[in-house]
Amino acid sequence: MSRIDTAAVLAATRAGFELPAGKVYLDGNSLGPLHREVREQTLSVLRDEWGEDLIAGWNKHDWINLPLTVGDQLARLLGANTGEVLCCDNLSINLFKALAAALQLNAPRTRIVTEATHFPTDNYIADGLAQLLGPTACYVDALPLAEIEQLDFSDVAVLSLAHVDFRTGHCRDLPALTHRAQADGALVLWDLAHSAGVVDTALNRNQVDLAVGCTYKFLNGGPGAPGFLYVAQRHQHADNVIPGWMGHADRFAFEPTYRPVEGIGRFLTGTQSVIAMAAARAALSVFDTLDIATLRQHSLQLSDALVAALQGHAATAGVECLTPMAHEERGSQISLRLPQGYPISQALIERGVIVDFREPDIVRFGIAPLYNHLDDIEQGAEALADILTTRCYEEPRFNQRHTVT
Ligand SMILES: Cc1ncc(COP(=O)(O)O)c(C=O)c1O
Repeated sequence: MSRIDTAAVLAATRAGFELPAGKVYLDGNSLGPLHREVREQTLSVLRDEWGEDLIAGWNKHDWINLPLTVGDQLARLLGANTGEVLCCDNLSINLFKALAAALQLNAPRTRIVTEATHFPTDNYIADGLAQLLGPTACYVDALPLAEIEQLDFSDVAVLSLAHVDFRTGHCRDLPALTHRAQADGALVLWDLAHSAGVVDTALNRNQVDLAVGCTYKFLNGGPGAPGFLYVAQRHQHADNVIPGWMGHADRFAFEPTYRPVEGIGRFLTGTQSVIAMAAARAALSVFDTLDIATLRQHSLQLSDALVAALQGHAATAGVECLTPMAHEERGSQISLRLPQGYPISQALIERGVIVDFREPDIVRFGIAPLYNHLDDIEQGAEALADILTTRCYEEPRFNQRHTVT
């Protein structure tokens, strides 16, 4: 599709987002904005479903099956089959379940390989599991990516990696790494937090074993929106390490003994937030008429445009870009290394260009193809050039740290 085509297809989608006037939103990699459908449908669940039907809503509005039905919406987007994705809990909890399932599926192997610079929660969760199980049942090897790419996986139970690195925006070669590790008998678990909705994950085509992600970033499910868990159908006999009544074969029999339901539902634990799930369902419905190839193409056009715009301003031309230029290695963000990154990000935000900062010196410009367009990119680059030229970021107010950066 040409540049004009993708922009036109997505212009209508952009119109549905309730973006505040005068703001350039380049932080969809952290928290997607509110879509009109999300507001309307969530209000309707509050007012018409909960408000009117009270507890009958669980049956009448099928609240009980939301983790499965919203999971199926995600499955389409992720290239998985119906019945392979659950929308539940959060990424961290789902990762705990997925790692434990992988160890069980690949026993007697006990080694988890992860990236040393993985998103911290992923490694905390792996370490927590290892501590719980003890050194004879599980140990964690956190290695640099370059070492993982050359590793002999023949004693590895599971390789746990981010598809797109949250700091640099580097998109990993998911097909090749999956294939390589599996050839030595390892399972592969991908964290899709920064790729779901913007990069083609093609989970089935790539024979991915397990994956986890969240719905509050590029999927626009709202602050603290639920996570998701993908378990390939061939692995769905694994146990859920946090067995709860929602994963029981007969929940309302209240049996004293746990008996897991067949299929992906066994990875449920407790009661879902119906309101949060309704918001996620509405947010995912925005993707119904779109395909990931169109979104990916628009994302790459916009990130190319941002790089070009930065190179076009004298003040920004020399700034180090941590995100790879090769399209196949680029996620949906541009990460710049700026020694004064925190105050610069605050100065950008004060001008209405919403970006974020990651320690020690990274300013991230998230590119969300659903609603960003070329004007956003140009305004973002211009604002940064001006801030670097005037050095206004040196003003003390920009150096006051907020809790969330
Ligand atoms: C790559 C990555 N993994 C894991 C997480 C943690 O997700 P959660 O807090 O929803 O468990 C995040 C959160 O931003 C993330 O970016």
